[in-house]
Amino acid sequence: MTTSSEPSANPTPRGSIACVGMGMTLGSHLTPLARSHIKQADVIFAALSDSVVETWLQRMHPDVRSLQPYYAEGKSRMKTYRQWVALMMAEVRAGKRVCGVFYGHPGIFAWSPHKVIEVARAEGFEAHMDPGISAEDCLYADLGIDPGRFGCQHFEASQLLFYERRIDPAGYLVLWQVGLVGDMSLARFHTGPAYRQVLVDRLSRDYPLDHKVIIYRGATLPIEKPRIRRVALRDLPHVPLPAEETVVLPPAEALKPDLAIRARLEALDKLDNAGALASGEIG
Ligand SMILES: C[S@@+](CC[C@H](N)C(=O)[O-])C[C@H]1O[C@@H](n2cnc3c(N)ncnc32)[C@H](O)[C@@H]1O
Repeated sequence: MTTSSEPSANPTPRGSIACVGMGMTLGSHLTPLARSHIKQADVIFAALSDSVVETWLQRMHPDVRSLQPYYAEGKSRMKTYRQWVALMMAEVRAGKRVCGVFYGHPGIFAWSPHKVIEVARAEGFEAHMDPGISAEDCLYADLGIDPGRFGCQHFEASQLLFYERRIDPAGYLVLWQVGLVGDMSLARFHTGPAYRQVLVDRLSRDYPLDHKVIIYRGATLPIEKPRIRRVALRDLPHVPLPAEETVVLPPAEALKPDLAIRARLEALDKLDNAGALASGEIG
């Protein structure tokens, strides 16, 4: 028999990891919950959009370790991301309360936060993610897009080239990481117009070349305004496109009614009404 003073056979290890988002705009997007994780952590690892945001975070905690120096041109990003996981897990295993702070939402187009949580949980540590305001959230607000109106697909731009994916041009299409589209090495920070031309050729299967696409950059500093450019699809290779911009294709086709499904639903409605009449529910 065990008493309450005896240690249990499998005590939960004390180390823990919380992955939180800083949001996109410095100062205004940090949630109270994320702030409290940052304040209570023993050590912070940070992957943020720029050094100003990192300096701001350093004012909130004395031990902020930047993950940015692990990136290098010519080095696979997957190697960098595995290093990030290893760095965070080393502190979790040492019994520390670790907080990983990522810009935007920590779980959107971000490999390491999901991975470190998976690894920590598999080893019996407490691990969780808090959502943050992502580029996606800002985009809906700044461009006045409601994804529920026509539906909205999101793709990492290179994945759209590497795999056979189905695009629905009746809805919105949001393309992430267009600035480095087609980089099979995962080791480049930017790819040029020739790579974007391949993307345009792929998109031209579903969209006319004069379709207006939106190039969007949400504000990261409170003094900035969002940058919104509209160009014809054919011109996408020829405009400068920094890594932090997102490309949106508005719908190019009207929604097509599915007549067969509508007929089935109408038949169901009739059955429902007939049943309600018979049972006296309506009359
Ligand atoms: C690795 S993902 C990180 C996304 C981030 N976790 C989030 O929640 O928004 C990087 C991509 O996010 C998008 N992005 C990053 N910063 C942005 C900004 N300020 N405005 C618009 N899109 C942005 C771009 O598509 C960029 O290539």
